[in-house]
Amino acid sequence: MTAAIRKACVIGYPVAHSRSPMIHGHWLRTLGLQGAYERAEAAPADFAAFLRDMPERGYVGGNVTVPHKEQLFALAGELTDLARRIGSANTIWFENGQLCADSTDGHGFLGHLDATVPEWEKALGRSVILGAGGAARCIAFALASRGVTDIAIVNRNPARAEALARDVGRVTRAFAWTELPTALREASLLINTTSLGMAHQPPLDCPLDGLREDAIVNDIVYAPLETPLLRTARARDLRTVDGLGMLLHQAAPGFARWFGVMPAVTDELRSLVEADIQKSA
Ligand code: ATR
Repeated sequence: MTAAIRKACVIGYPVAHSRSPMIHGHWLRTLGLQGAYERAEAAPADFAAFLRDMPERGYVGGNVTVPHKEQLFALAGELTDLARRIGSANTIWFENGQLCADSTDGHGFLGHLDATVPEWEKALGRSVILGAGGAARCIAFALASRGVTDIAIVNRNPARAEALARDVGRVTRAFAWTELPTALREASLLINTTSLGMAHQPPLDCPLDGLREDAIVNDIVYAPLETPLLRTARARDLRTVDGLGMLLHQAAPGFARWFGVMPAVTDELRSLVEADIQKSA
């Protein structure tokens, strides 16, 4: 008798739009592993029961996406220190019968930044994060974990920016959106985590004049792949980092946990997902 194949899934509601099956399916195929990664649609009222039944149904873990992230936080038996500090999780697995959860977005952000601009930490000035939502939290904590010391959080809702700055610690300061030009002065890393500039969303109006000449501009929006922010930055000869790599890199730690191999983010994978984004644009 052959052993049951290891299965993982992405749980959301709806879940049809998720690109996780494409990413994990590519890794399973190219690494020649016996395994499956499926879509699992569960309404909020059914989410707890779905999690409970996962091991019985052959699932070793998975990803959790909207609208379940808050419920997951309450239901997980074991949260990593990072997930607890950030206040969210996106990757689950089972250990000694316990549901465990971690956040991998910070790993994804750093993985892609390291790969795109390997020397980004050298002579780093101020880092400016636009937004103070879930993604901004992951990125602010990821930067702080690398010892980055001057982080400005700029957000429309100033209370949210202040709360994030307080949680990360003394290395961060909160700014109101109207203070954006002040926050950007002499900055050398700018990261957009808001939904502004995304397809079907309002544009992001961010003056790049005050940035240092050697600044890096990173937009985590990946549809469109080249956002107006990145286009403007490129036209000014600034170094740019797009949002797609973060999506690909954040998937790797989950895959390693479920299937036992740390997968690589390759150009081939990137092209596959890029084509899919362009198709649905
Ligand atoms: P995510 O988990 O993807 O970070 P989120 O938690 O909903 O999503 O955060 C969205 C971010 O985009 C927030 O910082 C939000 O600002 P507020 O905290 O003030 O709501 C920002 N955002 C969304 N629409 C915006 C807009 N029209 N103008 C400025 N900021 C906007």
